[in-house]
Amino acid sequence: MSDSWPTSGVDLHLELDPATGRRAGLEQALRAAIQTGRLAPQARLPASRKLAAELGLSRGTVRAAYDQLIAEGYLTARQGSGTAVARLFQHHTDNSAGPHDRISPRPRHDLRPGRPDASAFPTAAWLRSTRRALGSAAADAYTYDDPRGRIELRTALAEYLGRTRGVLARPDLIMITNGYVQALALLSRVLSETGTATIATEDPGVAFHREVIRRNGSAVVPLAVDERGARTDLLGASGFPPVDAVEVTPAHQYPTGQTLDSERRRTLVCWARSSGALIIENDYDGEFRYDRQPVGAIQGTAPDHVAYIGTVSKTLGPALRLGWIVLPRHLLEPLVEAKRHNDHHTETIGQLTLADLIACHAYDRHVRACRLRYQRRRDLLLTRLQAPPGRLPPGFSVHGIAAGLHILISLPAGGPTEQQVLHTAAADGVGVGHLGDRWHAPGDHPQGIIVGYGTPSEHAYPAAVDALAHVLHTTCRTL
Ligand SMILES: Cc1ncc(COP(=O)(O)O)c(C=O)c1O
Repeated sequence: MSDSWPTSGVDLHLELDPATGRRAGLEQALRAAIQTGRLAPQARLPASRKLAAELGLSRGTVRAAYDQLIAEGYLTARQGSGTAVARLFQHHTDNSAGPHDRISPRPRHDLRPGRPDASAFPTAAWLRSTRRALGSAAADAYTYDDPRGRIELRTALAEYLGRTRGVLARPDLIMITNGYVQALALLSRVLSETGTATIATEDPGVAFHREVIRRNGSAVVPLAVDERGARTDLLGASGFPPVDAVEVTPAHQYPTGQTLDSERRRTLVCWARSSGALIIENDYDGEFRYDRQPVGAIQGTAPDHVAYIGTVSKTLGPALRLGWIVLPRHLLEPLVEAKRHNDHHTETIGQLTLADLIACHAYDRHVRACRLRYQRRRDLLLTRLQAPPGRLPPGFSVHGIAAGLHILISLPAGGPTEQQVLHTAAADGVGVGHLGDRWHAPGDHPQGIIVGYGTPSEHAYPAAVDALAHVLHTTCRTL
């Protein structure tokens, strides 16, 4: 049976210049598509018969054009596998910086904060869960759905978050989002709907999140952080601007690593209750606590005043873009509308897979295995930085070791500066973070290097720690 164009082969869109001859026009169009990169190296072309039928040309014309481009090196033809774009063809692109250029290349020793170990992704368990989830998924899994996300995942999360994080979560008050950042963006937009809202965020904190808040119509004011965590005692105090919400990382302040102490937690909740303001609780890595039981979420003590946000970015990987927000009842409707008008809802197949992974407890097992792995890494890092030959130079100190995937190394007041350490690190192929733009405003701030210990693979990690110790010592020697 001869197959028809709509049902077989590869599609190729070409616009032939009517002023050019048929064969020359086809050659020109193919050359242009290859040169601009629209047709990638090794891309298969349609069979000459199919392309001829589609373009209203004779098969001989298409064949002749293909032969010409094979002779010129643009195409290759292999017996049995048809015609394709040549493998080594270099297309001409303009080299201006695109959005992806902002994703900096991976350093040899990758100790940048904010990323988990990609090689720990539970591929086999994820595949099993996908198979099970799709095997039993109803037909409505493939169509538009509730903006809050799949009920299977919201139900699984309600149980999981209650059990592991002390969150009071009912499935109907949970919304699945594309990671933490979308939850924050939607909240900022909803808060700003009746005019600019003001959100206090931790200083230092995440510059990207401040920008997300601003781009969604809310203003940002700094809330200082000290060794007891965010200065929640300042909220509502004279001299502190009135705010509609505060975004905090109570389980593990980012980037200083402090846990918000119990008195500050109480102060925060009292302030929210009396002022009617919203607490945005960022629980981005609350699963990873090493030396004692994790601190429960603040949401469990004041569910009507807290929007609790979690994510799989640290437990499974940021690539999944899966997060959740547990909402106070009064914010449900506006958030549902904001999500609907943003992207209908989060992608369904990943949600069903995660729901299965949580329900069969493979997620618990994975988190536990990762906790052990990261605890070992943290211990190795501390051991190397506390004893010769890698012992930290005088005046350096380590903070935020109890939880999460990063530590903060404070630099002594007399130097070196963050920039000096970063300079040596770059020369040695070591990637680390620094406090830098994590402060709301430039100024005479304490200097600190943020070391993430999640990213390197297991075998590469010890060498990365040695390289870091070498960087710190070299920087001090060259001062
Ligand atoms: C402080 C903080 N919050 C949230 C996140 C997670 O964001 P998302 O879920 O959008 O990937 C990260 C990830 O690095 C983080 O460092």
